[in-house]
Amino acid sequence: MLRNRVLAFLLLGSQLLVQIPETGAKVPALIVFGDSTVDSGNNNRISTVLKSNFPPYGRDYFGGKSTGRFSNGRIAPDFISEGLGLKNTVPAYLDPAYTITDFATGVCFASAGTGLDNATSAVLSVMPLWKEVEYYKEYQTRLRSYLGEQKANEVISEALYLISIGTNDFLENYYLVPRKLRRYSVSEYQDFLVGLAGDFVTDIYRLGARKMSLSGLSPFGCLPLERTTQIFYGSKCIEEYNTVARDFNIKMNEKVSKLNSELTGIQLVFSNPYDLVSQIIHQPEAFGFHNVRSACCGTGYYEMSYLCDKMNPFTCSDASKYVFWDSFHPTEKTNSIVATHVLKNDLSRFQ
Ligand SMILES: *[C@@H]1O[C@H](CO)[C@@H](O)[C@H](O)[C@H]1NC(C)=O
Repeated sequence: MLRNRVLAFLLLGSQLLVQIPETGAKVPALIVFGDSTVDSGNNNRISTVLKSNFPPYGRDYFGGKSTGRFSNGRIAPDFISEGLGLKNTVPAYLDPAYTITDFATGVCFASAGTGLDNATSAVLSVMPLWKEVEYYKEYQTRLRSYLGEQKANEVISEALYLISIGTNDFLENYYLVPRKLRRYSVSEYQDFLVGLAGDFVTDIYRLGARKMSLSGLSPFGCLPLERTTQIFYGSKCIEEYNTVARDFNIKMNEKVSKLNSELTGIQLVFSNPYDLVSQIIHQPEAFGFHNVRSACCGTGYYEMSYLCDKMNPFTCSDASKYVFWDSFHPTEKTNSIVATHVLKNDLSRFQ
């Protein structure tokens, strides 16, 4: 316990002292794929109910702007981009306020609510992962006409690709299907998803991507929305879900080793913040948080997207005391702690 507490202080301390951690290599651009953990506003431009481009989302962002990020402020890729010496935010590809000039140093193709499985994106009519890849191909074409063939190819191969996806496949898809109707056991479904992640990595590798970071799953059984289903049992974390996340991470880590040996020249890093997030959840005070069971927005038990709006009278006044901003997504402060950890421990390995 004491050791963990000391570790937590060290992590927090290093976050405050070393604003921009050292990284191995200079990257010209940060390119992001995935779900709401990394979506900086693409869902604003598609017809889905899963949006967050209204207050109080973004109230601690630059200018208090609601951008479509599922947080009170910035999300992890923004901090990572800044840490890499690039822009302090990563623009959404579908946001008409930005052009290829902006996207040349960082771009986000992520869509909140999506998953590795096509069926997951269909639940809330968001962008499936293959659609993110279609936009990425279009981006390459635009980048080549903007920078010229040679320079564009250099950006494409030297850029850092950040991939964060998978939680929705379990929570918005697999576990919403009644047990009797499920086609896969949870272990088979994990294998299926890990296979799809491998296909995705191979796809963007063939398109020229080389430096990639694939994120592990967090202990999603401790999201306030999941705890709320246990409200009559002490709002405990759903340990079954946390076990699913850990098993998935083990399988994904093996897949990452395999891909590294199969695809020549690839640098694929498995970035797994599970233990850090678990520490934050179990010892929130050590990181300066006061509340982890419920979120800041609304009552904190179930609200996200349109239920978390400015009409909700219960929203907390200081989000930095909370681990979670809405019932499914971390606060800016949590994002910053996780991003700093990932930069130091995982992304520093790129050459
Ligand atoms: C997902 O959908 C796309 C587009 O229809 C298709 O190309 C792809 O094969 C599908 N993936 C799986 C695993 O079914």
